[in-house]
Amino acid sequence: MKFFIDTANLAEIQEAHDFGVLDGVTTNPSLMAKEGIKGKDNVFKHYKAICNIVDGDVSAEVIATDFEGMIREGEELAELDEKIVVKIPMIRDGVKALKYFSEKGIRTNCTLIFSAGQALLAAKAGASYVSPFIGRLDDTGYDGIDLIEQIRTIFDNYGFDTEILAASIRNPIHIIKCAEIGADVMTGPLSAILSLLKHPLTDSGLKQFLADHAKVNA
Ligand code: E4P
Repeated sequence: MKFFIDTANLAEIQEAHDFGVLDGVTTNPSLMAKEGIKGKDNVFKHYKAICNIVDGDVSAEVIATDFEGMIREGEELAELDEKIVVKIPMIRDGVKALKYFSEKGIRTNCTLIFSAGQALLAAKAGASYVSPFIGRLDDTGYDGIDLIEQIRTIFDNYGFDTEILAASIRNPIHIIKCAEIGADVMTGPLSAILSLLKHPLTDSGLKQFLADHAKVNA
């Protein structure tokens, strides 16, 4: 399972990269706004800075919602760096754009997926990734993990090579469940990745080992 970090914060991306388990980055317009990045030149510079830190894919989202606008923006984004994956919303023109980019060999991530039907459409249109938002589904009383399971079954039934990028990850259980089901990628904040480290028996065991060592080496 690949680990992507879901942020536009360069310090966090660097920290995750240095931790040694980072495979890529996802961003979205809200995350870019959170960093105060505005204006096309600054946005493009920021994506380039992210690409310079990570070794893997970097999702950069289009703002346009019409086909021509998405194509224009997506092509510019894709030219920035070979790591860029163009993020396209799951809307009617978005599906057309996925097909267009797939035929041009430009990689895409179809975002805002909340149903298996949407994931199927995106895969048929040639999306490289689909991003089902687990945490946001959970927030509405549905089980986001069930959706990952459904999409896994559908993609396996038909041999789609579109990767399932489990998004809106909030906690370590989400990550473990997604790994059990066979999601290809998970994206979440650094805190969710680091939470996998924690186990009380690890802490007490290490404390004991160090205490025993100190006793004879004092
Ligand atoms: C995915 O690419 C999105 O950026 C993201 O995972 C949304 O997560 P949130 O629900 O925590 O905003």
